[in-house]
Amino acid sequence: MKWNSNLYDNKHSFVAEYGKAMIDFVNTQKGQKILDVGCGTGILTNELAKNGAAVIGTDSSKDMIDAAKSNYPHLIFQVQDATNLPYKNEFDTVFSNAVFHWIQNQEKLLHSIHNSLGNNGMLICEFGAKNNISQIQTAFEEAAGQKRYIYCSPFFFPSKEEYKLLLEQAGFEVKHIIEYDRPTPLADGEKGLYNWICQFFAGDLLNFSNEEKEEILLETERLCRNSIWKSGQWIADYRRIQVIAVRKVKKE
Ligand SMILES: C[S@@+](CC[C@H](N)C(=O)[O-])C[C@H]1O[C@@H](n2cnc3c(N)ncnc32)[C@H](O)[C@@H]1O
Repeated sequence: MKWNSNLYDNKHSFVAEYGKAMIDFVNTQKGQKILDVGCGTGILTNELAKNGAAVIGTDSSKDMIDAAKSNYPHLIFQVQDATNLPYKNEFDTVFSNAVFHWIQNQEKLLHSIHNSLGNNGMLICEFGAKNNISQIQTAFEEAAGQKRYIYCSPFFFPSKEEYKLLLEQAGFEVKHIIEYDRPTPLADGEKGLYNWICQFFAGDLLNFSNEEKEEILLETERLCRNSIWKSGQWIADYRRIQVIAVRKVKKE
């Protein structure tokens, strides 16, 4: 999917705002080495670096990395695919906010993170859980279906039981894993859902003319209105999974 860093910073920086709570779990003191996986425009990379830790932000989108470099020129950012990181036993912590659900090959992702961490290094992350944005996805699927488009969700939204198993199989000991509802108000009043879909369903919307795209967006809004339009605001039906896990040496 193509990421639009301007739209992200202008309308969707709430994603990073929510991610700030996860930073409390991270040791950010001087001497610590931290990798921020899927750093986007660098907002949380900058937070992670504030106490003196050495932080590298990585993201597969060049547009996001260019924006991060321009926002925080004193920090290190690199274009890297999270499933194919080049590091070996290098980090005390791998941190990631709102990224893992974009990645289908979770075995490869966790293997890549396991390799990047030193022994007893921590993986601290949050992303979409089972049934995340189910109202929005169902409405979008129906609206796009009216144009004979078969919507196929690109997202991986696991339950905590499923994800605990994947982590253990990848050589992690799970210290904390929870799933929770996080109803999320979207910025911009009436336009909030429209903007949100333009950002997060950009890959699907590329398949339509401007006119069709507009019709799909309006129809998705109409279908969602009864469930997630509340007191003059769109409240997205987010569900999150939070993970703290420790890298163990894998038994061959
Ligand atoms: C919703 S943004 C979150 C950005 C940032 N972590 C934050 O909290 O603001 C998701 C990010 O994941 C990145 N991403 C998606 N798939 C990726 C992959 N395979 N490897 C690295 N980054 C990826 C996207 O480019 C995007 O910047």
